[in-house]
Amino acid sequence: SNNKFFVGGNWKSNGTKESIKDLVAGLNAADFDPKHVEVVVAPTFVHLDYVNSIIDKNKFAVSSQNIWIKGTGAFTGEIAAETLQDLGIHWVITGHSERRALCNETNDVVGLKTARALELGLNVIPCVGETLEQRQSGQIFSVLDAQMKALFDRQAFIAVKDWSKVVIAYEPVWAIGTGVVATPEQAQEVHAYLRKVLGNKLGAEVASSVRILYGGSVNDKNCEELAQKEDVDGFLVGGASLQAASFETIIKAHA
Ligand code: G3H
Repeated sequence: SNNKFFVGGNWKSNGTKESIKDLVAGLNAADFDPKHVEVVVAPTFVHLDYVNSIIDKNKFAVSSQNIWIKGTGAFTGEIAAETLQDLGIHWVITGHSERRALCNETNDVVGLKTARALELGLNVIPCVGETLEQRQSGQIFSVLDAQMKALFDRQAFIAVKDWSKVVIAYEPVWAIGTGVVATPEQAQEVHAYLRKVLGNKLGAEVASSVRILYGGSVNDKNCEELAQKEDVDGFLVGGASLQAASFETIIKAHA
């Protein structure tokens, strides 16, 4: 598609002060044109401010991996969208499958968090995707429908005017951290389906402009073929985003 390519690096619960300093130095030295690709990295909450202070903002934006469903207040251990705004963090990932699976985040919670981010003016990367069992038992499209419906159920989502602020990540759970990457055809099939679902709700123009990322075992070897698919507008990368050289190759996969 003609959409600006987008690559997110989700560092998950990784990094030390030292390794992050090195990684950001490597990223800052990466040679790519930010006019042609938008790149966001998501460190842990405690590293957000540090990364945001040392990363080259001409080339990168910084994202959190999660937010709280409400504002600031008596919510021990949670981080509100307002706090991210205050730190100059303008992106947030919602509904990552690890949070769905390990922290019991339901579709409804993901919808609430996504809406909350949008209400506060943050850019958001909602994640969807099926498990292997769901795929094998023919439930893939009903699972994706329910995950998307939870977004559509929120007024703040369907009222979005600037769809460059919303980037959907398709991350099949069976491909995350397994080394089993979806084939380009598997990714394209689901991306086209998600675009159809978006179109049914928001119209063809919005659907074609919303970027849909693929995530799950993307690396410097398999990214190029995936990037050639019509409805793959970029990637959400886990493991390979922890190595500056691999991540740089993925950033440049669209060329
Ligand atoms: O958010 C990123 C995904 O969970 C992909 O992780 O690239 O390590 O498979 P992975």
